[in-house]
Amino acid sequence: MIERIGPAQHLDATIEVPGDKSISHRALILGAIARGRSYIGNCSPADDVESTMRCLRDAGGWVRAFGRGRVYLDGSGAGATLRTPDGPLDCGNSGSTMRLLAGVLAGHDLNAVLDGDASLRRRPMRRVAEPLRAMGAEVATAHGGTAPLEIQGHRPLHALEWRPEVASAQVKSAILLAGLAADGDTVVEEPLPTRDHTERLLRMCGVDVGIDGRRVTVTPGDPQPFGLRVPGDVSSAAFFLALASARQGWRMRCNGVGLNPGRTGFLDVLIAMGAEIEVEEGEPAGGVEPVGAVTVRGRDLHETVIAGELTVRCIDELPVLAVIATQAHGETEIRDAAELRAKESDRIAAVAHGLRALGGACEETSDGLVVTGPSQLHGAHLDSHGDHRLAMAWAVAAALAREGDCHIAGAEAASVSFPGFFDALRHALS
Ligand code: S3P
Repeated sequence: MIERIGPAQHLDATIEVPGDKSISHRALILGAIARGRSYIGNCSPADDVESTMRCLRDAGGWVRAFGRGRVYLDGSGAGATLRTPDGPLDCGNSGSTMRLLAGVLAGHDLNAVLDGDASLRRRPMRRVAEPLRAMGAEVATAHGGTAPLEIQGHRPLHALEWRPEVASAQVKSAILLAGLAADGDTVVEEPLPTRDHTERLLRMCGVDVGIDGRRVTVTPGDPQPFGLRVPGDVSSAAFFLALASARQGWRMRCNGVGLNPGRTGFLDVLIAMGAEIEVEEGEPAGGVEPVGAVTVRGRDLHETVIAGELTVRCIDELPVLAVIATQAHGETEIRDAAELRAKESDRIAAVAHGLRALGGACEETSDGLVVTGPSQLHGAHLDSHGDHRLAMAWAVAAALAREGDCHIAGAEAASVSFPGFFDALRHALS
């Protein structure tokens, strides 16, 4: 599907974005294996989250979804809920579904194959296969360490101490979820801190989780059932907030979004570039996940450097931040972001190519991008490469163009995390 978007004249709007994708995956998985009835409200409508729900059901999970993101789940404990599915579990485009479920399935006495679309079949899976093997599960990958993954679970798994080479919340979460069904405490020590939704939700479920800097320890046990209203997805809000930041006089407010510090790096980047940001904190979701309203007011932006821990804290927002950097004075550098090449597309190559088509100045490095601004963007033919975050980043670029419409091919990919994104954008700009 091709979406056509032209230059925006003005932006002054308030929106509520759908439920958080990362938190929804975890809540569904924990609700499915918790002993007893759990309830989730405002669960994300994203295609990726649908994939998690489908896989859980196909592996024998009890999951009932009703309108407006209400989901009931019932389970029988870690390692005791799921069974061998009739066929391969289809994770669609979702890396979180594949990696997190690999960890859960590994602790059950079952045999399951996790598969996905062409993009997911290109993504690295050795990073989860290796620790799960070390815990006693058999995990076979395709040649090259990619999906499909065939898992022969083992109950109980062996406790493990693991130091992943890459900073990945999905890898950490897979090991911690497997650790629930292990014979002792499991430890993950990350090279850099990543989003800690799994740790927070495990604690919400009464699981013993110790945190000591970058070292996380989980004690085996069954999660307790819970009720959770999922906050709005700050990564979906990011496209609107970033757009408002780039023009003096523009304003955008997003209500009720999750403010987990592992996810709000892009706000720190926008502040460093000169945007004005106001955060009003509300009541934490489930007592564990910070929530609030964020208002961004646009300013004349200037360059910044995104590196190290900050890169990890805004890993999913780097494409849209690169778009914003075309509007900032000076040279903005994104470093330490080699992981971007292993996302739903090679986001470094695709962003550099697209920004140049728009009239921006952008150089690719091995682990990042250098964007020089300000540039007057113009209409262009752009491609999502089947990647939701690129589809939405290009929509932001189209709105910031000074002349000409942009045609975004593969725009339907946005529904992987934000069904209705293009309607919401048009509404905000009207
Ligand atoms: C996610 C972790 C990140 C992120 C992805 C969602 C999660 O991936 O890019 O969109 O929910 O844990 P990695 O763990 O591969 O860095």
